[in-house]
Amino acid sequence: MRKIASIALCTLLIAACAPGQEAAQISIIPQPAFLQAEEGEFVLDRNVPVYLDSPDSALLRTAGFLNGHLQKAAGFSLELIQDDPLAHGNEKGIFFLDAGLRTEAYNLDVTPARIVVEYGDGAGAFYAVQTLLQLLPEAVFASGKQAGVRWSLPCCSIEDAPRFPYRGMHLDCCLHFFDIPFLERYIDLMALHKVNRFHWHLTEDQGWRIEIKKYPLLTEKGQWRKETVVGSLYSGVYDGKPHGGYYTQEEIKALVKYAADRYVTIIPEIELPGHALAAISCYPELSCGLEDHYETATKWGIFKQVFCPKEETFKFLEDVFDEVFELFPSELIHIGGDECPKASWKQCPHCQALIRKEGLKDEFELQSWFIQRMERYINSKGRQIIGWDEILQGGLAPNARVMSWLGEEGGIKAAQQHHEVVMAPYPKYYLDYWQGDPDSEPLAMGGPTLLRTMYEYNPVPEVLGPEEQKYIIGVEGCVWTEYMPSPARVEYMAWPRMCAIAESGWSSAPKDWDGFTRRLEAHLARLDRMDVGYCPNFWNPYIEFHKDTEYSKVVTMSVDAPDAEIRYTLDGSSPTAASPVYEGPFAVNRQQRVTAAAFRNGKMIGNIKYKEF
Ligand code: ACM
Ligand code: ZN
Repeated sequence: MRKIASIALCTLLIAACAPGQEAAQISIIPQPAFLQAEEGEFVLDRNVPVYLDSPDSALLRTAGFLNGHLQKAAGFSLELIQDDPLAHGNEKGIFFLDAGLRTEAYNLDVTPARIVVEYGDGAGAFYAVQTLLQLLPEAVFASGKQAGVRWSLPCCSIEDAPRFPYRGMHLDCCLHFFDIPFLERYIDLMALHKVNRFHWHLTEDQGWRIEIKKYPLLTEKGQWRKETVVGSLYSGVYDGKPHGGYYTQEEIKALVKYAADRYVTIIPEIELPGHALAAISCYPELSCGLEDHYETATKWGIFKQVFCPKEETFKFLEDVFDEVFELFPSELIHIGGDECPKASWKQCPHCQALIRKEGLKDEFELQSWFIQRMERYINSKGRQIIGWDEILQGGLAPNARVMSWLGEEGGIKAAQQHHEVVMAPYPKYYLDYWQGDPDSEPLAMGGPTLLRTMYEYNPVPEVLGPEEQKYIIGVEGCVWTEYMPSPARVEYMAWPRMCAIAESGWSSAPKDWDGFTRRLEAHLARLDRMDVGYCPNFWNPYIEFHKDTEYSKVVTMSVDAPDAEIRYTLDGSSPTAASPVYEGPFAVNRQQRVTAAAFRNGKMIGNIKYKEF
């Protein structure tokens, strides 16, 4: 097998082979660093053995994931043999060989006679299996037996390694609670896309979701809010139904193991000093004590009731983190840090005395003091903190990593100060934003942030010099669940846009929107087999009215699906294959209605969309 050490060289080779027709038939997401399609295929049947060159149980489990899919979809699984593959070099089979590759890297060589998988660690072998699954017919992702499928893989040569070590997906389980089976499915989907960090948002103003044995009230009471705002956060209407849910420590341990088996590290987030109302509603002494009564929030937003930086608060937080450390082996621990209003601290005699005693300039420096004190504790237990941009306020804690969500500015500042950064900027990587015309989409937080915008975003800001760019350790897609009350809505909002973020996190191949859409169309067929309820806007026109003039509006239309044309009408009728083809921006007047659909080879491929002036 060809060895190519340099990613830069790989990139050149991709450019050289990408236009080849055979390469186009292979649709892997995220795109491998180097992929060369060859002629021929490897046909899989129950007689093909898998040779594993290590007695390692993790490798056996990884090969078992391939078998798990085959057993369900093809009705057979492959014999797994832990033996020296070289002793079987003449046989047809799949050979896993430790080639000392760097962490998470793998090579695949698929020929008609054998598949050789080279890896260097368990993660690399696991990602090779994810790619093998994507080389098989999409039917391999079905949960029931598929008849009449030829279980073959196209011959090819792949050399692959991640662009960033941190490829994350967040899920807020506080604004709405999601059960463990859904989280397992969420992690499975992450792993399929080579996403390796699950950022689990566990505490909020609207609910506390992690069992802490020392403070049982946190879940007995703090899991609950008495009701939830209906529709927009500003509606003023409430559903009158209690909402709650929490994860027991046993459930958490099992999920951490489930994720680790899939090379996903779970990073728990315990919010401080803000977004703490659920905890304060259980233990009001943790607040500045300015109010008679504290209640878990029933709508979304920012609340002024925050942790007061006093000894009993630090005792509480340290106790909580002690239990968190027992549950989560992750080196990184997310401490939130975002959106902490300073109003209570301004009024609180204790906080004001503390500012004077510590010689702090203001409440922003008090926030920094709070974070630094927590960092010292967390570091003393061998862990590192990561927090949202606002931990930059008043000065960054010495060892902190920054998760940059307020645009790019915080990430840039932190990288310039030589702190590691994960780029999770809103709105570019916020999956709670609309992914189409808000007029025809379910309620969302803002936007729209289209698939293409997410795909084209470069997570390494150009203002950073080469030395500073090294501090960008990865990317994360954020799933805040204000307007996602169900697993189905989470899947709708997250996919397929998360495919684009995953690709930016993994792939060092140059961005190529057209190539991505071709691969994505094949990939969506896989998600269909897994019954992922992704947003189907890929095949729908996106109609945009621009606010250029008062009395007529300029319309532009686009569609993500490749090889598609948009046909439209202006009289309210449904477009057909004979309707005019959209060729460029045009003006519409008041009361006109643009009705459009995408067509390929004379057939409508998605849904009709319309927009009225
Ligand atoms: C955030 O969206 N408040 C991090
Ligand atoms: Zn206070």
